[in-house]
Amino acid sequence: MMKFTTKADVQRQIRIWKKLYKSVALVPTMGALHEGHLSLVRKAQSVAERVVVSIFVNPTQFNNADDLSKYPRTEEADLALLRELGVHAVFTPAVAEIYPGDTQTVVSVPELAAPWEGAGRAGHFEGVATIVSILFHMLTPDVALFGEKDFQQLRIIEQLTTDLHLPVKIIRGELIRDKSGLALSSRNERLSDVGRKTALSLHESLLTIQELYRAGTSDVDTLLAAGTKILADTDGLTTDYLAIVEESTLAPAKELCGNTYRTLVCGYVEDVRLLDNMRL
Ligand code: PAF
Repeated sequence: MMKFTTKADVQRQIRIWKKLYKSVALVPTMGALHEGHLSLVRKAQSVAERVVVSIFVNPTQFNNADDLSKYPRTEEADLALLRELGVHAVFTPAVAEIYPGDTQTVVSVPELAAPWEGAGRAGHFEGVATIVSILFHMLTPDVALFGEKDFQQLRIIEQLTTDLHLPVKIIRGELIRDKSGLALSSRNERLSDVGRKTALSLHESLLTIQELYRAGTSDVDTLLAAGTKILADTDGLTTDYLAIVEESTLAPAKELCGNTYRTLVCGYVEDVRLLDNMRL
């Protein structure tokens, strides 16, 4: 596995692959890799001939300095996992390599970024959209893979890729859960055993809504009330939002008719912000 830290070196290698007509997949990450990331890498290996994983804890998407400093950094373990999987190259730039100091340009996808995660985290999605655009321009992948776990992020990246006519195909990776049903996230490391059990209510509320819907309940308020009750009855869980949204616009569904819908949930357990979602 090759490891690059500079733009010049990684670009040189990608140019060589392109001259050999090898397709290149990019899996952008912030490290602290878990099975969710590894499943994206395996998918990347099945769709492209060369796979690059970037590991970069992007400061501009953290609106809280404490959250940035607490973000787990586990580079040695990450590299070992990627080497074992047979990844061709890892790109681990320093902050100054990406943002050399005089950066002014920001990529914004205002409508998709406004609600849900965007409502309480000013600038978060501008940070995500900007770093993803930078990585796409710098590494020129043919395909890039993002997990459905961060569904709003995924939709924003799909939209910016379309809007900016970027020649990158976005591939969705399914949300991966542990055996108990907890959605895998680097943030789970910060939960105690009790916290992990408490967090399962997020999944339970999504499942309840999905089961009721599939059994014939189509009234949005009834579905949300059933999910809300599970969350409200869970000690140690503070809900930020529970919403049934239309998948492409992320707008709250008023009635369920024909389109594809998804339930989004976010809550705090032991001060850790946790996200989950499920297609209806
Ligand atoms: O989902 C993540 O890990 C990050 O938001 C991403 C897409 C790598 C951008 O920094």
